[in-house]
Amino acid sequence: MSYILGVDIGTSGTKTVLFSEDGTPISSATYEYPLYTPQNGYAEQDPHDWWNAVVGSISDVVKESGVPADDIKGIGLSGQMHGLVMLDGDNKVIRNSIIWCDQRTGKEVVEITEKVGADRLIDITANPAITGFTAAKIMWVKNNEPENYEKCRHILLPKDYIRFMLTGEYATEVSDASGMQLLDIPRRCWSDEVLEKLGIDKALLPKVYESPEITGEITAKVAEMTGLKAGTPVVGGAGDNAAAAVGTGVVEDGKAFTTIGSSGVVFAHTSDISIDKKGRVHTFCCAVPGCWHVMGVTQSAGLSLKWFRDNLCWGELETAINMGVDPYYLMDKAAMEVPIGANKLLYMPYLNGERTPHLDPNARGAFVGLSTMHKKRDMLRAVMEGVSYSLRDCVEVIREMNINVSDMMACGGGGTSPLWRQMLADLYECPVKTTQNKEGPALGVALLAAVGAGIYSSVPEACKAVISADKVQEPIKENSEKYEKVYRFYTKLYPAMKKTFEELSEL
Ligand code: XUL
Repeated sequence: MSYILGVDIGTSGTKTVLFSEDGTPISSATYEYPLYTPQNGYAEQDPHDWWNAVVGSISDVVKESGVPADDIKGIGLSGQMHGLVMLDGDNKVIRNSIIWCDQRTGKEVVEITEKVGADRLIDITANPAITGFTAAKIMWVKNNEPENYEKCRHILLPKDYIRFMLTGEYATEVSDASGMQLLDIPRRCWSDEVLEKLGIDKALLPKVYESPEITGEITAKVAEMTGLKAGTPVVGGAGDNAAAAVGTGVVEDGKAFTTIGSSGVVFAHTSDISIDKKGRVHTFCCAVPGCWHVMGVTQSAGLSLKWFRDNLCWGELETAINMGVDPYYLMDKAAMEVPIGANKLLYMPYLNGERTPHLDPNARGAFVGLSTMHKKRDMLRAVMEGVSYSLRDCVEVIREMNINVSDMMACGGGGTSPLWRQMLADLYECPVKTTQNKEGPALGVALLAAVGAGIYSSVPEACKAVISADKVQEPIKENSEKYEKVYRFYTKLYPAMKKTFEELSEL
């Protein structure tokens, strides 16, 4: 039997899973690490923490599984996208990584748009300049820490820094590189035009591969540290969303998934490149060679519910501990007691600004319509509905682009809630399914490794062999009609508040 390893370097921790070639998880380990917020709107992590988590989790998984290192045929890397890692001439990390959700780069976004031109940016990078993308972070270091920029010899994304540590190779792959805003998305290679206009030396960037291609091999030193075999191939892998697509079988036209993790994502596969000229959704290269995906992002999806739980659900947290259940289970039950529309209470989920469809870092959250009749459970339901309306906003843009979405999977922590999945099915008016295997991105990149190692001949073939659907929730016509009325009302809220949010940010 052959085995494959998936390593997912996420924001809250690194999850490593060893699978047998048929996708059965054999052993798994997760190591957490901190996120630093040195100033309001900043978000940083220490790449050494990622590395320690990767070494720790791989060692645990190899040891616990008892699988001979010889039988592990390939390794795939997934991870949080967009983060900036800078190495000096001795391959030392120069500063903490400025990660995806950091919002410090407002001025650099204006600078990038002026230097490249708004239309050229969309034509080449398939996206308008965005605060979270890597190019803006590089320009911020150039503008604010010139001594660090001077020292920089290599620019890497989070999972690609780990690749360097595992294999000694400076390499990336198309799906994650797409989120740097330096890649020519239609041609799947670095854009000389963008690099030249921004004054970034191409020699700083790693070599770009397709996701299932072999990019390097485990070094003797890492083999000794982890129990892996020296020479085990490491494939390109994928950014977390492109990896989750493979892990849920979203690798063909018509297929899409919704993740409710901290952020919420609606991801649709497309074999023809399609770009929204208004930049409301991202178009990125996907992990299937020669294909793309469009992706709408809700910044605070699961994060909205977590914020509500941590600040307003202390009673539920205590009861959950006493009952030995997940607090979200109790919250789900409470929200189920409230009718659709939460008794005329609406929630705008913009706690950390918003990407799709508003692209507004100043937007903030709000409850609209609070009355003395409302109870906490109404607010709870309003939060879940508000996040669902915002995900429906993403689907609206994707449908407007004529990308057919007929098969929707649900994943992430929020995807385990039957209530939330039903809301999505009713709002999208299409069936929403889950997969039997819940390992998402780790399974996705392990399958890419299986393709790279020759176990499967292509990414779709690997998915067909391994992924199968589990529960299906069908839309309920009567619910859809009720939600539609409230959703139409919800779409009026942001335009009415846009100016107020701007003024609030300047207060
Ligand atoms: C995608 C995005 C997030 C991060 C963190 O554009 O910003 O999904 O990859 O998970």
